[in-house]
Amino acid sequence: MKKEKLPIGIFDSGVGGLTVFKEVAGLLPHEDIIYLGDTARVPYGARSPQTIIKYSQDITSFLLRQGIKLLVVACNTSSAVSLPSLKKANDIPIIGVIEPGARRAAEMTQNKRVGVIGTEGTVKSRAYEQAIQGIDQRIKVVSRACPLFVPLAEEGWVENEVARLTAQSYLRPLCEEAIDTLVLGCTHYPLLEGIIREIMGDGVCLVNSAQETAKEVQRVLEEEKLTAPGKKNESYTFYVTDNAERFIRVGERFLGRKLRSVKEIS
Ligand code: DGL
Repeated sequence: MKKEKLPIGIFDSGVGGLTVFKEVAGLLPHEDIIYLGDTARVPYGARSPQTIIKYSQDITSFLLRQGIKLLVVACNTSSAVSLPSLKKANDIPIIGVIEPGARRAAEMTQNKRVGVIGTEGTVKSRAYEQAIQGIDQRIKVVSRACPLFVPLAEEGWVENEVARLTAQSYLRPLCEEAIDTLVLGCTHYPLLEGIIREIMGDGVCLVNSAQETAKEVQRVLEEEKLTAPGKKNESYTFYVTDNAERFIRVGERFLGRKLRSVKEIS
């Protein structure tokens, strides 16, 4: 098969990467996509870098065996710690979510004060901070782990009092830092965008890494001459490593559409 006709591979620790899938599928409707959610080993957010690197390489090898032309590491935690080793070990274009989000934040900030929220693993890795300051050293980056946002998003508790109080206690210190840009540095956080905006106020620009990553996928496909020729029906396949039923239930909420072709693998 011609390379450009191969699917794009996208993986995440679970269901959260569907926020990235949604943006990629929306921007590139002619592309076939294989998505893998590592639901048996989620969450990655509190795991050690060595473990995340191993899991990420396992999944990459699986997706390569399915035949993909480009890989998107949709998980912020995996992008933060495993991207360099994945790029070194595998011979296809690999795109993480950190660089695109960091680039956009550096573009948007006027007062050179940027906030980043993510999992413990992402914040500890300082990957966003390094990427943003690699673009402009003058930017001050304030980061905060918001681990409870993940279960809240999965539970669909994105607008109630529990979500509001949790968000207030995570985000208030960032409000005090006078940031004008905030990176939603975790797959799940776009679902809480409404409440995050309410707390941060309209003066703070929210950067959705998923949207920026989709634009980067489009750019790389064009650059590498890998864009799929136009056609009528796209094909999407979803693999999970455990509990397809829950993936479908939560995933349909994340995507706002029906999920078909979900297969469980070990
Ligand atoms: N997908 C992860 C991320 O974007 C969040 C869930 C997890 O901790 O595995 O960092």
